[in-house]
Amino acid sequence: MTTPTVDPARIRAHVERLGALHPPVDLGSADYTLRDARAVRERFAGPLEYMARVEMEVERNVLELAVLLPGVSETDRLFYADVWGPQEEHHGVLLDTLGQHLGMPPTQADTGGVPPRIRVLGALAHIPAVHEVIRLLYYLTGAATEKSAMLAYQSMSEGLAAMGEDAVRTTVVEAIKVQEPGHFAFYRMSALELVQSGALAPWQLHLARFLRSKTFSLVGAKTRAQQTQFGSVLVELGMDDELERNVRDIVRVETQLLQASGQGLAVPAYALAAFRDAAALYREQAGASARTRSPQLVAA
Ligand SMILES: [Fe+2]
Ligand SMILES: [Fe+2]
Repeated sequence: MTTPTVDPARIRAHVERLGALHPPVDLGSADYTLRDARAVRERFAGPLEYMARVEMEVERNVLELAVLLPGVSETDRLFYADVWGPQEEHHGVLLDTLGQHLGMPPTQADTGGVPPRIRVLGALAHIPAVHEVIRLLYYLTGAATEKSAMLAYQSMSEGLAAMGEDAVRTTVVEAIKVQEPGHFAFYRMSALELVQSGALAPWQLHLARFLRSKTFSLVGAKTRAQQTQFGSVLVELGMDDELERNVRDIVRVETQLLQASGQGLAVPAYALAAFRDAAALYREQAGASARTRSPQLVAA
């Protein structure tokens, strides 16, 4: 794959275009008419619960970014505060409302304060050399997260189409899905520009690679329960059928920018392990609950 050359003006134009073309989805435009709410809930409850939560937690992410990147550029600020944040918040509301139409409880999202871990990083980020490393990690995390979202919404849309649930497929899932590639493109272009511009010395790239391999985590999946929930997205949306290929897609930007040249474009082991572990946790739990359910079924 060829790597385009990116400059700040192109990124700025992209963000302005996104803001103009994609205002937050009009919440009144969603049609929650369902043919078979129970079947949709059975198929998608786990993925919906996870996706609604992480989309809503963007509210906290925006606060975190202000702490994490004290020397943020005007383009970055415009993107996360005025374009990305408002779009993602509406994604969260749409998914939460869909869940409630399916009989699920309201989403429990952590939109509270900035955690101490972020404050420590934010303090270090006042050192310019560290700031740029954190900025690269922010772009790489963003690219992987948005690519995951693109794959998940694609799969959800296909599943709803097969069930004949056209109202929610088009006015909720597709309405959200169409906004995710622009987010991915922003992070990808920003990471490329930061590296291509030569702003990072070799030791900063080494540090970024080291930190990424040690701290890689699935977005919104800090606890074991949340990792299991992420596993439900992978398993229930069929993303674990070709997990290695999907993870390669999801982390392609960092593979290109951070992998040592001798490693070629192999999927970073830390990323594959995180996804595999989440899928395994969910399968284990699903197996356990099936085992505890079956005696009741027999008794009934
Ligand atoms: Fe989103
Ligand atoms: Fe997004």
